[in-house]
Amino acid sequence: MSKFQLRWGILAVGGIAETFAKDLTVSPETRGVNDIEHVIVAAAASSSQQRAQAFLEKVGVKNAKAYGSYKELVQDPDVDIIYIATPHSHHYQHAMLCLEAGKNVLCEKAFTTNAAQAKILIQKAKAKNLFLMEALNQIRSGAIGTVQRTFADLSSVIPAGLLKDDNRLISPKLAGGVLLDTGIYSLTWVFQTLYTTQDKPRPPQVLSSARKNAAGTDEHTSILLTFPREKGGDAHGIATASMHASTNPEGTSTPAVRIQGTEGEIQILHPCFRPTKGRLIRSNGMVEEKDWPQPGPGKGSGWWNGFGNEVGKSDNAEGEGHGMFWEADECAYALREGRKESRVQTLAESLVVMEVMDEVRRQNGIVFPHEIETTDYPVDIAR
Ligand SMILES: NC(=O)c1ccc[n+]([C@@H]2O[C@H](COP(=O)([O-])OP(=O)(O)OC[C@H]3O[C@@H](n4cnc5c(N)ncnc54)[C@H](OP(=O)(O)O)[C@@H]3O)[C@@H](O)[C@H]2O)c1
Repeated sequence: MSKFQLRWGILAVGGIAETFAKDLTVSPETRGVNDIEHVIVAAAASSSQQRAQAFLEKVGVKNAKAYGSYKELVQDPDVDIIYIATPHSHHYQHAMLCLEAGKNVLCEKAFTTNAAQAKILIQKAKAKNLFLMEALNQIRSGAIGTVQRTFADLSSVIPAGLLKDDNRLISPKLAGGVLLDTGIYSLTWVFQTLYTTQDKPRPPQVLSSARKNAAGTDEHTSILLTFPREKGGDAHGIATASMHASTNPEGTSTPAVRIQGTEGEIQILHPCFRPTKGRLIRSNGMVEEKDWPQPGPGKGSGWWNGFGNEVGKSDNAEGEGHGMFWEADECAYALREGRKESRVQTLAESLVVMEVMDEVRRQNGIVFPHEIETTDYPVDIAR
């Protein structure tokens, strides 16, 4: 049987685009996936064609087209799906650009700046009969009785030198702040365990507190979510994120996520965006350690991926993928089967999480410039 080939275009060639593109180059057979393949056919940088060309060379892709603008990329008839890796401030405009051009889309988290934009993207994808998905790694929970509450944290101390005004982590112009950058993962763990698992999920009540920096974006945010349930009573989710404290102080293996039920607890060790270790603790005292090693070309391959993407700089071991190929595989299977949505990361969940983040921002007075909050399209956002 011939393999289903998915032809990717990469929109923006920054840090995470590099990690994603390198993961796409890993043979799916290394993870037991034998019926699909991924090919990068084009990449586009916003500023110059040379930047896109340098990116393709760096990630080890030959025979792909390099564009100096996103508009050229979306017109490429050889591209089936576009991976959007611009700052979240720009996701709405760039996803609209792709959908309007008839391209399927995998859009980096946070999906958009606000829920109103997410809703319009979902409507646009439906109207155009195109696939749309927010890029987030996922995992399913095991049997610990009725889940009562989930704690989830994704925090790391960002060196002060990096927190310049124009950095996407803090700049309001780039939808900066820890909520949309890492809080989204904490929220996703809470939603995957307390919302998506329900037969008739209902949105939670939201209580939150955020500490803001001089730029007016959040640097330290805690959210308490109450999920109404038909059976088992209300469940609580506690989602936190900070850029001045760490989930995992150096050298420790701290649980980043604790899913607590009537009969035990599941712990996911840091980092929750790329989980490789967990623990199941049953109320009878039995403890099971779990490992989910990330596949890849393996030791001795001389290939490295993960933030840094190079020998000595990568967070991951030699030959280990970053794990972004799982969501790419889901895109390929969806398109092969004619599905317009992921089964794992649904658009309904992406939308309700955006609504929660809107509410947290409302409660804490976190406001972004109109040009990135607007649902108008097209808007030329100043760089
Ligand atoms: N899934 C994950 O694990 C993960 C991890 C980190 C980040 N992310 C998400 O991925 C997105 C990108 O993050 P990143 O860390 O890759 O950022 P980055 O390294 O700063 O790259 C962003 C890219 O977007 C392009 N861009 C277009 N307009 C821009 C503007 N006005 N200002 C700045 N850049 C602009 C840039 O230019 P070119 O087009 O010329 O490249 C740049 O390369 C964010 O939404 C972030 O939340 C996801």
